[in-house]
Amino acid sequence: MSIADHRTASEMNIRPLHPALGAEVTGLDLARPLAPETFRALHRAWMDYLVLVFPKQALSDEQQIAFARQFGELEVHHQEIIKSRAAPEIFRVANVDDDGNLMRAEDPSVAQISLAQRWHTDSSYRPVPSMGSILHGIEVTREGGETWFTNMYRVHEALGTALRRKIHGRKARHDFAHLTTLAPIKPLTQAERQAMPPVWQPMVRQHPVTGRKSLFISPIYNDAIEGMEDSEAVALIAELAELAGRDEFIYRHRWSPDDIVMWDNRCTMHQVTPYDLGQRRVMHRATIVGDGPVIAG
Ligand code: SIN
Repeated sequence: MSIADHRTASEMNIRPLHPALGAEVTGLDLARPLAPETFRALHRAWMDYLVLVFPKQALSDEQQIAFARQFGELEVHHQEIIKSRAAPEIFRVANVDDDGNLMRAEDPSVAQISLAQRWHTDSSYRPVPSMGSILHGIEVTREGGETWFTNMYRVHEALGTALRRKIHGRKARHDFAHLTTLAPIKPLTQAERQAMPPVWQPMVRQHPVTGRKSLFISPIYNDAIEGMEDSEAVALIAELAELAGRDEFIYRHRWSPDDIVMWDNRCTMHQVTPYDLGQRRVMHRATIVGDGPVIAG
């Protein structure tokens, strides 16, 4: 598809950011509803580039939610500590509390959001994992705190024969509670555990829109692979995550205030780079509910 195709529907301009994935979109005001043809062109661009960056979009939470709802229903996170008080559809990725105070590095919420420094895809632990996420950079860091995205279609294509054989037809376990083994986060309540029991997801999935196959892992939630000893499973997930982290597959996003970044959770993973926790970082995420259970690829 030519980039010019995307321009026909509106004033929208698309500039690719990396050979593997990512494009900057300008010329749209995300605070206003998209005309149907603009929505179609934007959706096509999303499917082509996987990650879209919209600079200078100073959206309120309500406008961000309304923009996201054009793509589907929104998730409401099952943990109270992560949700915004004012808008439950907003997942606060922040080291600043809802009252605006910088939290201590040892705060369990900070420990939890810092786990995003490892590769993952959002909500893979749900029976229907998220379709995509839309993140608003409200207070961004001067150094570090970049978000890196990797193209899991390309990672799947790059698997050697031995790895392909190992994962073929297999499912990995995705368990939200696995986070509690990785960092001193706030213990989950019984209700939170019951809300998100572990799920088994195919390790290769087929994208419901593009039909393309991708590797589907989410290392911060994966603790087992069916038919494998746990130690072998952990080593395999680590090997796959290392492959996914190869330079050629990654777009690195350096944030400016009021960037909106939108990604497809079905065919990408992301991670945040470390930053000095003395700097404020406030990001608001709207998470789009998936369009159905994972299709095995
Ligand atoms: C996330 O993992 O959804 C948040 C990414 C970020 O904070 O940049």
